[in-house]
Amino acid sequence: MTSTLTANDLSHVVEADRDHLWHHLMQHKSLESADPRIIVEGKGLRVWDALGKEHLDGVSGGVWTVNVGYGRERIADAVRDQLVKMNFFANSLGSVPGARFAQRLIEKMPGMSRVYYTNSGSEANEKAFKMIRQIAHKRYGGRKHKILFRERDYHGTTITALSAGGQPQRNALYGPYTPGFVEVPHCLEYRSQWGEVSDYGERAANAIEEVILREGPDTVGALCLEPVTAGGGVITPPEGYWPRVQEICRKYDILLHIDEVVCGVGRTGTWFGYQQYGIEPDFVTMAKGVASGYAAIACMVTTEAVFDMFKADPDDPLDYFRDISTFGGCTAGPAAALENMAIIEEEGLLENTQAMGARLLDNLRALQDKHAVIGDVRGAGLFCGAELVADRASKEPMAEKRVQAVVADCMAQGVIIGATNRSLPGYNNTLCLSPALIATADEIDRFTTAIDGALTRVFGTA
Ligand SMILES: Cc1ncc(COP(=O)(O)O)c(C=O)c1O
Repeated sequence: MTSTLTANDLSHVVEADRDHLWHHLMQHKSLESADPRIIVEGKGLRVWDALGKEHLDGVSGGVWTVNVGYGRERIADAVRDQLVKMNFFANSLGSVPGARFAQRLIEKMPGMSRVYYTNSGSEANEKAFKMIRQIAHKRYGGRKHKILFRERDYHGTTITALSAGGQPQRNALYGPYTPGFVEVPHCLEYRSQWGEVSDYGERAANAIEEVILREGPDTVGALCLEPVTAGGGVITPPEGYWPRVQEICRKYDILLHIDEVVCGVGRTGTWFGYQQYGIEPDFVTMAKGVASGYAAIACMVTTEAVFDMFKADPDDPLDYFRDISTFGGCTAGPAAALENMAIIEEEGLLENTQAMGARLLDNLRALQDKHAVIGDVRGAGLFCGAELVADRASKEPMAEKRVQAVVADCMAQGVIIGATNRSLPGYNNTLCLSPALIATADEIDRFTTAIDGALTRVFGTA
């Protein structure tokens, strides 16, 4: 396909970017000798940069966000119409798209009942943490206030979200952290902490119980987990893990908070990742795919039982959730989210995600047969990872620089893939793919063909 870009000279934009922009996730020294890359246009899975080069995007906007693909005019039209009519009012009052999207969302989440709007995944998680703390104060004299999080999981960038962060490199320089957050072990069987066990899922879940017993069950209010760990290495849960986790939460009266910021709204082939594992959560947070990046919106969703705890005594001035998110009152978010959801339904994107996800996983497994450097392949729906190792027998992780060389080689081929990076010391070695849910078989094959070529060039043939 040829570029749809016009031949405008965008060098002044490149200069403005280099002179004034502070990019996310970037060590800027490199931009003293190379131009920043500016993305100018997108359509479907393709984006074009300021030089007119076309790229096939395998990571939905870099951070698994643009679930319905680029260039969706109907979302832009719906947002425009809504903004002209009514752009904002604080969410202490209601809005038409806010109420409509909440209803549509709850239809997809049996057992859940209330939607709290906010701006980012981090903030949605903070809302849940605040509610958990408030429940501890109101019901347990402040005692049941601890929040468990898991090694390798990530829940956001703010100081308290980082306090629940299981990725040491992200956290290294930003402490001290909020007290009362306690880590439990990860559940990645390929990196088993308990040697070869036949019931690894149950063993990993029991490790959570061990932490609860060590801390004292009457001090633990909630457990916060990603259904499939994303940036920590695309970790799909082992068999038997989730039923046991749910059982443990019930046993000790611990609220279950599922962070669906990445998995939510179709990424794993069901509306929510947790729905594949029979989980009944008390809190679900979501952000990226909710409106596919067409507007900033995140949601914190709870059950009616949780909601009820915040309205029992109207005479008590503190018996409600004393919280606001200013931009949670922006109507662009729910207006975009309504269209985003309609597209997923009308175009059968959950089914496509299941079919194309299976193809992607098969392709990656075929690459694993060919390239010894691929130690493990994991995935759910259109969210897949290939862990690279220096040695298959010892599972020594591949050096991050060489993993990044694979990403760079794909980029040079016009294919954007991702890799875990600067998160887990020594273990930033997993290639990641999370294309838009509209991906076709040809596009899936192009991703894996590009990786095949990159692995051959970087590591030689197997
Ligand atoms: C699982 C998970 N939770 C929370 C967040 C934070 O979301 P945001 O960047 O919108 O604050 C992220 C971001 O990557 C994430 O992957």
